[in-house]
Amino acid sequence: MAGLWLGLEGQKLLLWGAASVVSLAGASLVLNLLQWAASYAQKWRQMRRIPTVARAYPLLGHALLMKRDGREFFQQIIQYTEEYRHIPLLKLWVGPVPMVALYNAENVEVILTSSKQIDKSSMYKFLEPWLGLGLLTSTGNKWRSRRKMLTPTFHFTILEGFLDIMNEQANILVKKLEKHVNQEAFNCFFYITLCALDIICETAMGKNIGAQSNDDSEYVRAVYRMSEMIFHRIKMPWLWLDLWYLMFKEGWEHKKSLKILHTFTNDRLIGRSSAHSKNKRRAFLDLLLSVTDDEGNRLSHEDIREEVDTFMFEGHDTTAVAINWSLYLLGSNPEVQKKVDNELDDVFGKSVRPATVEDLKKLRYLECVIKETLRLFPSVPIFARSLSEDCEVAGYRVLKGTEAVIIPYALHRDPRYFPNPEEFQPERNAVLERQRLQCDICSHQRASSRTRTNQNSSNNHFQCHLKPAVNSLHV
Ligand code: HEM
Repeated sequence: MAGLWLGLEGQKLLLWGAASVVSLAGASLVLNLLQWAASYAQKWRQMRRIPTVARAYPLLGHALLMKRDGREFFQQIIQYTEEYRHIPLLKLWVGPVPMVALYNAENVEVILTSSKQIDKSSMYKFLEPWLGLGLLTSTGNKWRSRRKMLTPTFHFTILEGFLDIMNEQANILVKKLEKHVNQEAFNCFFYITLCALDIICETAMGKNIGAQSNDDSEYVRAVYRMSEMIFHRIKMPWLWLDLWYLMFKEGWEHKKSLKILHTFTNDRLIGRSSAHSKNKRRAFLDLLLSVTDDEGNRLSHEDIREEVDTFMFEGHDTTAVAINWSLYLLGSNPEVQKKVDNELDDVFGKSVRPATVEDLKKLRYLECVIKETLRLFPSVPIFARSLSEDCEVAGYRVLKGTEAVIIPYALHRDPRYFPNPEEFQPERNAVLERQRLQCDICSHQRASSRTRTNQNSSNNHFQCHLKPAVNSLHV
């Protein structure tokens, strides 16, 4: 009897406990929702003054106005920047998240010269499954310490050591291109991308993957597909949840590609760490195996994999795009092409010898061509930061949590700095250099890396960015 009574009481207690847990969870959910709504309303009110393109609706923001297709969305943003060029910044609400578009030098500088605003946009989290928290995706102390450790590996003298690889791969590309001389028009994009992949793979990992001769490599295909899938996912909010993403065919393909990519880097890592001292040609990966932080700690295998994968991602598409646009602009501007040709003749004559660092320094006009190409078609036309604290831009208060979207494509078309901005005029770089304006406007990423490292005179990052493009163009 006592047992039955205890059982009934026990059941009652259990029910009472469960009901309390549910009501507590409900109450805390409601409280959280109320808190979120209050902070959202406050943000909405405080950011009301910032100019915008059209009326935003609560919660939806400007979502209904935004083009869904990636290319159309980019064109829409560029159209706004042209239409509102006279306005210092533009606010857009992406659902409940505020975003400010920045496209003139003075305002971009506020963000890129701040040592606090170093958090990458939340959109970069889709890169994390592949790149982990490497230089591109990390923030705070992790980023600072990594950046300090890795900055010496960006040094010009280190890059010189990679010149042989660049020359070898450029020769393969030339031979492939030669087959098309006096033939039908063809798409050179893929050839150039494969050459860039070969260069980055051998310089970063010390492995010749022969992508140019075998475009069916599993690793190359995975790099390609992964980059495509990441950009696709960013545009499709319904694919953002990891578990849900796995319900789609693309989610599975993502998982499969990830395995191929990580296995490839891990295998190289194990191979190099056991034999790196004996190796004649040092790769970026070998340098990472030997760097230490202030306390003398080395990077773990996981850390190195993150950085090598980051270089693979950042280092191939950016340079391939820059080379492709350079060729396009040279082809469309025969008078510029002639000047480049003359300059190459002056430096190399009839010789087909490999390019040296000294040669590269002499190719000043070609350098202007590449800078002008990057001005018109920056390989990274948009990038973003998530503001970690409130800041003031052009007299407007922009709140913490806002996505600051920096638009080099529009920034480089500011007629105050680049008269007739749509015109391809490589000579303007020589003039700009003389006026010492070049570094402030066109090389904003240099400012970015400088602030993030607090090194005032280093331009190694920019040189690193420019050099592969210069080399591959000497074909
Ligand atoms: C034309 C060529 C290139 C252009 C235009 C370019 C542009 C940029 C830009 C705009 C950023 C800043 C992105 C952001 O803050 O969200 C960046 C970051 C970065 N780039 Fe490049 N890049 C190029 C080539 C390369 C190459 C060849 C490598 C490596 C081999 C590389 C490695 C990196 C890394 C590691 C970062 C992250 C740096 C950090 O946050 O500390 N990039 N690049």
